[in-house]
Amino acid sequence: MSINYSEKIPNNVNLTNERTLQRALEHWQPHFLQWWHEMGPTDFEKADVYLRTAISVDADGWAQYGAVKMPDYRWGIFLADAVADRTIGFGDAMGEPVWQQVPGEYRSTLRRLIVTQGDTEPASVEQQRLLGHSCPSLYDLRNLFQINVEEGRHLWAMVYLLHAYFGRDGREEAEELLARHSGDADKPRILSTFNEPITDWLSLYCFTYFTDRDGKYQLKSLAESAFDPLSRTCRFMLTEEAHHMFVGETGIGRVIKRTLEVMKELGTDDPAAIRAQGAVDLPLLQKYLNFWCSSSLDLFGSEISSNAASNFANGLKGRPDESQYEDHVLREASFAMESPDGHGSVRTEQVPMLNALNEVMRASYLKDCEIGLRRWNRGIERAGHAFRLALPSPHFRRSIGAWVDQPVTPAGKIVSAEEYAKLIGDWIPTEADKAFVRSLMQKVAEPGKMAAWIAPPDRGINNQPLDYQYVKLQ
Ligand SMILES: [Fe+2]
Ligand SMILES: [Fe+2]
Repeated sequence: MSINYSEKIPNNVNLTNERTLQRALEHWQPHFLQWWHEMGPTDFEKADVYLRTAISVDADGWAQYGAVKMPDYRWGIFLADAVADRTIGFGDAMGEPVWQQVPGEYRSTLRRLIVTQGDTEPASVEQQRLLGHSCPSLYDLRNLFQINVEEGRHLWAMVYLLHAYFGRDGREEAEELLARHSGDADKPRILSTFNEPITDWLSLYCFTYFTDRDGKYQLKSLAESAFDPLSRTCRFMLTEEAHHMFVGETGIGRVIKRTLEVMKELGTDDPAAIRAQGAVDLPLLQKYLNFWCSSSLDLFGSEISSNAASNFANGLKGRPDESQYEDHVLREASFAMESPDGHGSVRTEQVPMLNALNEVMRASYLKDCEIGLRRWNRGIERAGHAFRLALPSPHFRRSIGAWVDQPVTPAGKIVSAEEYAKLIGDWIPTEADKAFVRSLMQKVAEPGKMAAWIAPPDRGINNQPLDYQYVKLQ
């Protein structure tokens, strides 16, 4: 179904035929715009930004590019096309027809899953709202704003589901999604990673690499859901999400490229010399990777989870790419789970697979994270350096689950609490590291120019040249 842009709320869900729902969403719309005006990239409302807008939900050719002022962006409701005769692909009801309505017994669980996903979308916009003032180039500024408007649209996606399928509770939750704010002392966002401030672009690239990738895995598992409208919503969101991770992977890659150039110019890998030259030394980048990767790993939840088990058994939330597995019921399967034994060692025990699904998802996420690391390390190796970037152990710096507050090194070794406290500043950014990174963050807004700490990208957006004016600041 094509997207109708003649309506107040662009959509491909036939909103005109559902008057009550349309009115309710049109009532929420000004609240959303007010939130954007107050909590979004507010100082750039008059800028013309070269943004893509969805024009269909087909995998190829779904977007159109053009200069848009962000408050005029056409946020809307876009679901991927329905799959004919789709059946439930996992859990105890496997093979039965999928649901077009919410079954009463799963109503509150599904609502919570949708609210938790929905909460992350505006949260990231809030986290990033001041970054525009320190952009390393207009190309990067445009990418930031593209991500911001799309996270705004992802909020629309979840709010549509709440309004369309959860009645009055859903409408109340939709209002609450605009009332909580990232880092707010009284009403913070639901998940802790989304309350971490993002005040520099190195953090933004790490966030889009690690945290948006968690988003990819959550969306993939919800795309498997027996609740078909949720599945279709998430499938289209994944199309948009790919660009966010692209910004992270290429952003970090460009930082490394620039650092390697500086190392070559100076003929040294001494961090102090590299910093004096205004670039990011690789050990410092490793600290940022450690911080954002460990923070994002918490988003998958506890290692042992009865919620994950019942969500799977009931068909609400599957595993990412469920079709890659053979067993979709998992009643007989088990998993070798590692946990600290309390005496400085690791204990492995067999647990029911259904209870270990958070851990299964975390492991497949980490495998996906490795792909960028391999690419970056190839560049470092080619430049003739022995240094290698690495992902921290999933047991490092965990705030929830079996490994909470365990003194584990990024390499996965359990050490004493004293040693951990002494060395943590070698593993995640210290205040001095953050101050240095902030000192690099000076706005560069001339077309084609780049900040000195980052290399230019390989190509522009949508075949435009690198010196295209991706943002016209007013
Ligand atoms: Fe999103
Ligand atoms: Fe995203």
